[in-house]
Amino acid sequence: MTIPAHFFTTSWISIWKYVAMASLIKRVFAPANSLEAGRALFPTRIFLGVMFIYASLTKLTDASFFDPTSQNSVANQMRASAGSSPIGFLLNRLIEHATLVGYGIAVGELAIGIGLLLGIWSRAAAIGLALVSFSFLLTVSWGTTPYFLNPDLAYLTAAIPFIYVGDGGFMSLEASIRNRVMRELGVSSNKKLSNAPLEDQIERRTLVKTGAVAGGLGLAGLATGLIGKNLKGSPVAQPSASVTPSTTPTGAVPSGTRITSVASVPVGTAFKFTDPTTGMPAYLMQPATGKFVAYNAICTHEGCIVNDNVANGSFDCPCHGAQFDAATGAHTRGPGRGDLAKLNVSATGDSVYLA
Ligand code: FES
Repeated sequence: MTIPAHFFTTSWISIWKYVAMASLIKRVFAPANSLEAGRALFPTRIFLGVMFIYASLTKLTDASFFDPTSQNSVANQMRASAGSSPIGFLLNRLIEHATLVGYGIAVGELAIGIGLLLGIWSRAAAIGLALVSFSFLLTVSWGTTPYFLNPDLAYLTAAIPFIYVGDGGFMSLEASIRNRVMRELGVSSNKKLSNAPLEDQIERRTLVKTGAVAGGLGLAGLATGLIGKNLKGSPVAQPSASVTPSTTPTGAVPSGTRITSVASVPVGTAFKFTDPTTGMPAYLMQPATGKFVAYNAICTHEGCIVNDNVANGSFDCPCHGAQFDAATGAHTRGPGRGDLAKLNVSATGDSVYLA
């Protein structure tokens, strides 16, 4: 039986692929030996680690983040981003699995935060940081204006040096575990190794022990978040007037759904209601006597609900500080992807109607 010549070529390519993959994985998990770089990057590492653990626990302890019916849910944020994101088609497909996506983001952020803060698989954590930041950049923070206020651009950039050098062995739990393994095997941690099997044994033991520590810390963090969520209880619905879907009397102009009475919206104040067509919160205002305007209350940055600060001329987003002009809905400050969506309203008699 003759073996076709391409068999060998194909096999060699397959073997080469495995070897390349194995060395890539080893490179990613291997601690880079650059103590000075690790020392210089330490403050940034601590900041990123704390930020990502905080971001994760904020999500894990917030039941409304996972509740698809909540205005602050991950599903709502995905829906709000899908229209302008370059990967909106993907978001639309993922919305039905939004809760799973939410847990994936929260657990991923927790792993990244623990990895960077404690110095465990720091380069892998940095790759995770770059991937998460890049996916946020393409979705929830896409189109932030001005672009340099985009936090995910900063996080993506910050990940790059850590992908190169990791924690450099400085203040690194993984480096401590590795030194301990070397001591157990009777090897001085200062000694440069030239024994490949011994080096493999050290790497293997370090990998297993570091994995056990990382797994334990990850589970502890996850348990903290889930316990916190249960202690906080279910989200309390925000007070907001719900619009009764009654229409104007026959023959009256314009027709539409009654929001409230004119008297409920004194000049210079805002009246919060729920838009019956979208289920979204909205604000109705009377900037000048007899003139009514209404805006969707969903922030154009990442979909949080803006707060009424109409007394000071604005709607303020509690999440990342975006501001919108109360009279026009125009985006005036902070991150955001445009103005608040305007709703068509008009007053007839003593009531205000949504077109
Ligand atoms: S959601 Fe980020 S500023 Fe509003």
